[in-house]
Amino acid sequence: MECKKYNVAVLAGDGIGPEVCEAGRQVMQAAAEKDGHIAFTFTDHPWGCTYYKETGRMMPEDGLEILKNYDAILLGAVGRPDVPDHISLRGLLLTIRQGFDQYVNLRPVKLLKGAPCPLKDVKREDIDMIFVRENSEGEYAGKGVLEADRAEQVGVFTRKGCERIIHYAFELAVREGRHRVTSISKGNALNYSMVFWDKIFAEVAKDYPQIETRSLLVDAASMFMVKDPGRFDVVVCSNLFGDILTDLGAAIAGGMGLSAGANINPERRFPSMFEPIHGSAPDIAGQGISNPMATVWACSQMMDYFGRPDLGKKMLDAVEAVLEEGTVLTPDLGGSAKTDDVTRAIINKL
Ligand code: NAD
Ligand code: IPM
Ligand code: MN
Repeated sequence: MECKKYNVAVLAGDGIGPEVCEAGRQVMQAAAEKDGHIAFTFTDHPWGCTYYKETGRMMPEDGLEILKNYDAILLGAVGRPDVPDHISLRGLLLTIRQGFDQYVNLRPVKLLKGAPCPLKDVKREDIDMIFVRENSEGEYAGKGVLEADRAEQVGVFTRKGCERIIHYAFELAVREGRHRVTSISKGNALNYSMVFWDKIFAEVAKDYPQIETRSLLVDAASMFMVKDPGRFDVVVCSNLFGDILTDLGAAIAGGMGLSAGANINPERRFPSMFEPIHGSAPDIAGQGISNPMATVWACSQMMDYFGRPDLGKKMLDAVEAVLEEGTVLTPDLGGSAKTDDVTRAIINKL
């Protein structure tokens, strides 16, 4: 077997971003060396809030041009208390997601063995769902007006945008042998966008008679994720609902330090981007105690995307083995280990 080479852009960003990215890339490097048939070249781009303070931009004007030649992007986190969040996040993260048409945001919510869960009377296997979050339009389209006495935030839901994400969710269910797709809605109050979403969900569902479908209002869905998470399998939802529900998902599946996401352009016209779903965590930045497991999980999603799910599984199994052993954990998981200790422990389990 030949050795496949991939070029990965690293956008470490702000706060704990650099330390968790460093962990992800060390684990990828170690996995590649053991494997022998895959190799990575990492290139850092020091964009983010420091870059913004120096240049007035979060990334260069031709940032997308620079990124478009990579095979994938590893992103840490963006955001710092001295830069307004709507500037830092739109100027980098949302620009890349939307500019590269990464319309699928794939976020597994799975309780690994050894990971803490705050819910009682819940079986581990009951928390095993995959969120397919619309990632290119919806409530995050960036449309609206801001005046002195009035603001309007416009959600943009196109037929193309809704159809493609809902199709992706059903195709994922078929591919992974999952049985149910749940659509998250709020058609009772959002009388344009969510009525449209519901209609398209019902249309697309007709193409997949073998898959069971459900539709839940987002408020009730939040309640059921806590009371009865076993009812969720594949979940498809809009940008905002997916954002909120996956932080809730993180809370029931080990915390922010254990939750990953892939921003995917399925047609592969542009590179896809892999990241922990947490932010830059200013409250613990600079202490070297952030949990790198979410980023390692995101790197494992990158392996799936590179056509090496076997390697992705090895990386995730290594994370799970460290969790199960329970001796080398960061403070968010009740331990006293540093980020680097956990990274080394994961590499040792590979
Ligand atoms: P956050 O996810 O950064 O932090 C929430 C809480 O979780 C904090 O207590 C933090 O310490 C903890 N936490 C997060 N990741 C952790 C990890 N790996 N290990 C241990 N603990 C971890 O969310 P926030 O505080 O709402 O946002 C902080 C900044 O990050 C803001 O500027 C926000 O806009 C930005 N943000 C960026 C992204 C991104 O770049 N993808 C995502 C979310 C928030
Ligand atoms: C996430 C983040 C981003 C989002 C923010 C920072 C723009 O919260 O990736 O979940 O809402 O998509
Ligand atoms: Mn979020």
